[in-house]
Amino acid sequence: MRLLAFIGALSIIAAVGAVIFFFGGFYSVAGSATEPGVVSWALINVREASIDRHAGDQPPVPLDDPATVQAGARAFAARGCVNCHGGPGAQWAKFSEGLRPDPPDLKDIAKEREPSQLFWVIKNGVKMTGMPSFGATGAPDQEIWTIVAFVKKLPTVSEADYKAWTTAP
Ligand code: HEC
Repeated sequence: MRLLAFIGALSIIAAVGAVIFFFGGFYSVAGSATEPGVVSWALINVREASIDRHAGDQPPVPLDDPATVQAGARAFAARGCVNCHGGPGAQWAKFSEGLRPDPPDLKDIAKEREPSQLFWVIKNGVKMTGMPSFGATGAPDQEIWTIVAFVKKLPTVSEADYKAWTTAP
């Protein structure tokens, strides 16, 4: 009985401590503050599990069709992805170096993700990161699928291709 009372008292002290810590302004929300390893581990795993569970839409068109990939390259440039993620031969904007978490290199992401997962992230964004929801900005699904086609192709897109595709009339 005494043990239970002790555990109860400890939980109340911990809860009050947490309220003071977070609502008293002691927790730093600075983008530049580093978080403990366990927090970033948890955030990464929660993100991956969430994307896995929610993504399920299948591409309505073949993603290796050159016209689709090229339309995706133009949308990638026009929608501003390149400002945060960079592109073949295209530098990201300086401000993107201040984003925490960092926008990942999409050449690497392309190999690790299914098209359905890329589609879901581009359409819905990632909460509390710099990754916007392009669905919310009005980008139609069909255009988002062209961007997925381009991102999947990224590992083999040359600087010359990217330049030609994005400056085409
Ligand atoms: C304002 C900056 C910004 C813009 C613009 C932006 N992104 Fe991102 N993006 C991010 C950040 C930051 C992350 C990392 C999110 C995280 O770590 O959870 C990210 C993550 C991603 C991911 C990886 C998610 C995963 O599965 O790990 C993909 C794919 C992606 N972005 C694609 C795009 C595409 C395509 C566009 C344009 C349509 C775009 N992004 C525009 C900042 C941006």
